[in-house]
Amino acid sequence: MQIEVNSDRIAADLDELAKFSDTEPPAVTRIVYSEADQRARAWLKEQCQTSGLAVREDALGNMFARWQGSDTGGGAVGTGSHIDAIPHSGRYDGTTGVIGGLEAIRALQHAGFKPRKSIELLTFISEEPTRFGIGCLGSRMLSGTLTHDNAGALKDRQDQSLDAVRNAAGLTGPLTTVKLPAGYYSSFVELHIEQGPILEKENISLGVVTSIAAPAALRVLIEGEGGHAGAVLMPQRRDAFLGAAEIALAVEAEVLATGAIDTVGTCGLVEVFPGLANSIPSRVRLELDVRDTDLARRDAVLEQIAHACDAVAAKRKLKIASHTLNADAPAVCGAEVVAALEQACEAEGIAYKRMVSRAYHDSLFMSRIAPTAMLFIPCKGGVSHRPDEYASPQDIATGARVLARTLAALAS
Ligand code: GLV
Ligand code: MN
Ligand code: MN
Repeated sequence: MQIEVNSDRIAADLDELAKFSDTEPPAVTRIVYSEADQRARAWLKEQCQTSGLAVREDALGNMFARWQGSDTGGGAVGTGSHIDAIPHSGRYDGTTGVIGGLEAIRALQHAGFKPRKSIELLTFISEEPTRFGIGCLGSRMLSGTLTHDNAGALKDRQDQSLDAVRNAAGLTGPLTTVKLPAGYYSSFVELHIEQGPILEKENISLGVVTSIAAPAALRVLIEGEGGHAGAVLMPQRRDAFLGAAEIALAVEAEVLATGAIDTVGTCGLVEVFPGLANSIPSRVRLELDVRDTDLARRDAVLEQIAHACDAVAAKRKLKIASHTLNADAPAVCGAEVVAALEQACEAEGIAYKRMVSRAYHDSLFMSRIAPTAMLFIPCKGGVSHRPDEYASPQDIATGARVLARTLAALAS
């Protein structure tokens, strides 16, 4: 079967999707359930319907666009990714897998392929942790990793519950219905930009992902005592921000102490209250992210960070409470999906490399309910989560073509 993907259509779709944003181009900001996110999802729904796919949304907002196969029973072959975007990010993270997945389906339709198993494009809701502090909300719930009662209780920074904001976005069904029934997917494959420099550096077109690193995130609330920046003398201070600064440095020290290049840690969110130069910080909310390919090593770092919090609290007379937002195990990709991807690369004559995903993805959770793997394409300079994120239409088209061939093999 000759598979032709339309790289102009991919580029045009990505252009269109990038317009649904709360920041000026080239930056993209699309926070889950925001107006921009809702308009983007409505647009995407229309594109899927125009391509003859049957679209449904669950109570959380995960969107399923199905190309019905000739088998009415049995699991579907899933593909997809996310379209939410962290503040001031780029236009390719997640969207490549959604638009690339849609294009793969269109290419198979055009080639006259008739799927035996249904092929379904899944656009996950809230992959990014921006609003609720926890990433992969949609896939966590679909896979049953996060229960409906725990999810409903999640709050955003404005103290609005997940239920309140999804209801306001018109998603009013019960969250109990989100978890997928066993065997819903027979396999799952996600196309994504690499978000790292390896493919570009080695001049290799595609990466076949064989495992996904283990992510964890903590929220640390630090309480000290506020006061006048001029009047309160240094020995009397209980400055919450200085505690946060020491914790941030401890995170770096503990991560580096592993000696492993695969251990990484980031303190990417610091909110200081009241947040004025002439007022001593009385409260800080710190959120940090630690990841590793090795679960035990990651957990040992988390333990050291907990000790560091205790030590800082004692030293600076602060109240410090830390709360684990998530601490997930790594995923091993499904051998049959990896094999299907490799065979598709070979059939298309495309060089590929086996890789580890250091970023997390919804595939981390899909792998708990179905054999799952990922296909990476290069991105310029390995840059991601920045406005200058870039993947070429040719590379995305190559990814979509190999994805199409993989889906065809898995659905036959
Ligand atoms: C996903 O966006 C991640 O932070 O890995
Ligand atoms: Mn991302
Ligand atoms: Mn992503």
